[in-house]
Parts: sequence; structure tokens; C-alpha cells
Amino acid sequence: MKPSLFTGLAAAALCLAAGAAHAQVDPLQVRSWAAACASCHGTNGKAQPGNEPLAGQNKDEMMKKLMDFKSGAKPATIMHQLAKGYTDEQLAAITAWFAAQKK
Ligand code: HEC
Repeated sequence: MKPSLFTGLAAAALCLAAGAAHAQVDPLQVRSWAAACASCHGTNGKAQPGNEPLAGQNKDEMMKKLMDFKSGAKPATIMHQLAKGYTDEQLAAITAWFAAQKK
């Protein structure tokens, strides 16, 4: 009885911790992560000619490109290094933010 109760509680605690990590991304925090992309991709992702715009782009496509930069599957001059600096959760939040910006 005791061991199984303990295991159940531990599993419940893990679920709560994982749920909290996903639910609690502060929008202001996400905006400041995204601001780090502005020097190349433009303010709020509206790029100058010659750079890739991120504003209003498809979230899943941006996420796939970033994961490919991270793994090295997609060759890059700089993004393979930048993408490695963020967790997958941070990149998901950042791409969602850019997808929501007007083109
Ligand atoms: C120092 C300049 C620079 C910064 C800062 C930068 N990028 Fe990039 N980004 C590039 C360049 C250059 C490319 C083209 C691929 C390459 O050569 O690395 C690119 C490509 C991309 C692409 C693929 C675009 C496409 O349609 O092919 C995405 C998505 C992207 N960046 C997202 C981001 C995000 C998110 C950030 C902020 C966390 C960011 N970038 C910060 C320079 C930058």
C-alpha cells in the first residue's frame, strides 16, 4: 500500500510541475525573447529587404526550420548557432508570438 501511494503522489507532482512549466510562459517574457531577433528580422519581425520576415509567418514552418537549424539538418550562416541558445519550449513560444504579428 505505502509504496504505491508514494509512486502515485510522485507521478502527480511530476505532472503538476510539467503542466506549470508549459502554462506559465509570461507574454512579456516571450516578447523580450523575440526582441533579440529584431536586429536581423526587423522590429516585430517586419524585416528590411534582404532579410527573412518572421511577422505573420506560419508557426509550424518557422518551428520546423528552427529545429532543423538546431539539429544541423538545415545549413545556415548564423541561425544554427542562435537556435541552440533556446529551449524547444522557448522557440515554440517565440514562433507563436511572431505568427501572431501583422505582416
Ligand atoms: C544576427 C542576425 C540574426 C538574428 C539575431 C536572428 N536571425 Fe533568424 N535568420 C538570420 C539569417 C541570416 C537567416 C537565414 C539562414 C542563415 O543563414 O542563418 C535567418 C533565418 C531564420 C528563419 C528561417 C526563415 C525562412 O523562412 O527560411 C527563422 C524562422 C528565423 N531565422 C528565426 C529567428 C528567431 C526566432 C530569432 C530570434 C530568437 C532569430 N531568427 C534571430 C539572421 C538572424
